[in-house]
Parts: sequence; C-alpha cells; structure tokens
Amino acid sequence: MAIELAPIPLPPTADAHKFKDFGREVKGVNPGELSEEELREVHDLLYKYGVLLFRNVNLTPEQQYALTKAFDPSSESYGHGNNKTQAEKKSILHPDLKTIPRVPQVQLIGNGTVYNHEGLAEAMLKHPSHTTFHKTQVSAEDTEKGITRFYRWHIDAALYNLSPPRVTTLYAKIVPQGARQTVRYDDGTGDELEVPLGTTAFVSGKTMFDILPRELKSLAVRGRVKYSPHPYVWMAPAHALPTGLGIMSEGLEMPETELPPWEEEKIKVYPITWKNPVTGELHFQVHPCGAKELFIDPLPAGASREGALFPDGAHLTDLKEVRDLLYKMQRPAIAPPLVYPHDWRENDLVLFHNRGLLHSVVGAFKKDQVRAFHQCNLAASDEPAGPTPEDVREYA
Ligand SMILES: [Fe+2]
Repeated sequence: MAIELAPIPLPPTADAHKFKDFGREVKGVNPGELSEEELREVHDLLYKYGVLLFRNVNLTPEQQYALTKAFDPSSESYGHGNNKTQAEKKSILHPDLKTIPRVPQVQLIGNGTVYNHEGLAEAMLKHPSHTTFHKTQVSAEDTEKGITRFYRWHIDAALYNLSPPRVTTLYAKIVPQGARQTVRYDDGTGDELEVPLGTTAFVSGKTMFDILPRELKSLAVRGRVKYSPHPYVWMAPAHALPTGLGIMSEGLEMPETELPPWEEEKIKVYPITWKNPVTGELHFQVHPCGAKELFIDPLPAGASREGALFPDGAHLTDLKEVRDLLYKMQRPAIAPPLVYPHDWRENDLVLFHNRGLLHSVVGAFKKDQVRAFHQCNLAASDEPAGPTPEDVREYA
C-alpha cells in the first residue's frame, strides 16, 4: 500500500500559511508493521513535517517501542532513563510517569484510575496541572468556566547525562469527552487560545527561529545553553511563568550543593539552534525551564556589527538575564496563531520530531475524566547537531 498524506486538522485559530510544512496525517500504512521502505519514508516525513498523525491505530507497547527505536536503532533506555533512582524521586517529573511492566520504555500517562491495563492491575494517573507548577493560578471560578493554561513548554529530554530523544510517540488509548477549554496566557498580552479538552499543543522550532528579527537570529546561531545538573530536581522548588514557557526568577532553585550527586562532564551544553538532519533547516530548540547559562560566540569575521547583540561574545550567568533573553526569543512562537493544539481521538498515534519542536500538556481534567496514553521516547545515541559555519555566516 502506498503512503498517502493529508493535512493535519488545523483549527481556525492557526495561521495556515505558517503551518504549510508542519504536520501531516499519514494514511495507507499500519505504523505497527511498517516495511523497511515504508519506515524510510515515514522517517523522512517526520523530519520534514515535525508531527505525523496516524488515526485508528492498533499498536501494542512492543510495537510502539519498536517503532520509536527504528528512528535511532542503537538507543535503548527511556528518554529520562529506566532506573528509578533517588534523583528521579525528587524530580518534578516523577508523579507523571508510570511504566508499562512488559516494556519499561513505554510510559502510561493520563488521568483518573485505569484498571487491568497492559499488566497494571490498577494505575492512578494524574494529568499535570499548572496549579502545582505555575507561580500564579487560574481561579477556581475561572477553571469552572473552562479557563486553563499551557502547563510547560518543553523538549522531551533529561538534559543531564542522557541525550535528547529524536522522536516521541504518543498513542491515545482512552480519550474522555468534555467541553473545550480556553488557554489564557496571563502575561499581560491578553492572548487566549481555545483548545480541545486535554489537547497536546505543538509549536515549530523552525518557525520559532524563522520569525526572529535579524539581531536575535544572529544571537540564536551563536548561542549555546548550559543546562543545570539534574534540571528537574533543580527547578522543583521554583515556579513557572503563566505561559508555561520558563521559570520565574525568584531564587528558589535548589542550590547545587543540595542536588543529588552530579558530575561536570554529564552536564549538557547545547546549541540554541539544532540542524534538521533531513531538511538542513535550523530549529530553535531550548528547554527554557532547565536553562542556566548562555555562551555566545563573537560575530564571525566580516559580519556587520550594526545592531548586533554581544558582538564580541559573552558568557551570561545571571539567571534572570539568561531567562529574559530566551523568553524574548521564544515567546513570539507560542502566539495563538502559531500553536497546533491536537484534538485527540481514541487510537490516534502521533509521532513528533522532538528535536524540531516544543510541546506542552494543556488543560485540566476532573477526576472522573479518565484518560490513558502510551508515550515512548528513547535517550538518543547522539547529540543534536548545531548550525554549520555556513549557517553562522548566513545568519550572524
Ligand atoms: Fe513531553
């Protein structure tokens, strides 16, 4: 059977022009049983379009693991590691993750209680809520009216020791019905976005880069982010911004001396822009919550210094300055017209290019709204590639 492509179902809020090359529904193949040739095709489509949607899929955890692994055959452990260590228990990710016993690389995530699910007699799931993570909360009254927030914009990545997965697969097994909700940005812009209940929101990292003004593009191709050791433990006592796009600078992060043991060489320093291995495009890929320092290279020889920021390079260690600069570069790309909020149906399988976009959990469920998803991503066998010297010359 030949692979057919259809547009993803963009909502009326989305700027269709900006999504021309983002997201496709893939038809005509069974993603659990792809031939080698189909797999090669799907592989390239993923890097080209960022999000691939398969509808009405039957996929075992074993098949999901195999499909995920096919994008990086020598990867093996879950993106955040398979071993439940002390460090993970203190991490803010800990309550969100439950492992499928047969296939520990596949996580069961969702909301409410599910019974007899893939070897789990009973699993209590909790949809992450902004109320436990953001500095400010939507009032109970507004929540009742369906007002909500983006929980946390992120890349699926441990950002310490392990390398960011290339692809994440999300498979919707149980999807509760419920009224649509409205994401309020609450950052003084008045921005709002109407979304389906429990949507997963995606923004393109390529668009994030493309829409920057020249001086910030220059910074983006010259910059590298140093992440904290054990970033999810480090950020656990701190609170997020109302947009879910980073952390408030209140000095609440866990001091390095109180973190679980860590080693300097396991700390991650990544370029701000990552080069798409199939299209060659640059994607702005920063997990704003874990970022701690910024290294900025000087302008390359011959580049115009007019209007340039940090023309001679810099090493920024002031947390607020680092965060403010990243926010200035990333916030434009989460504007309502640039967000794809996926409207989940049962048996949807979404594959996304984890090194080419940011995504966020959204919304609030009631206890009796049961949802079960299978999620898989694998710590990669390599590090993301940054811009080439030609890219730096072009944009710096
Ligand atoms: Fe995620």
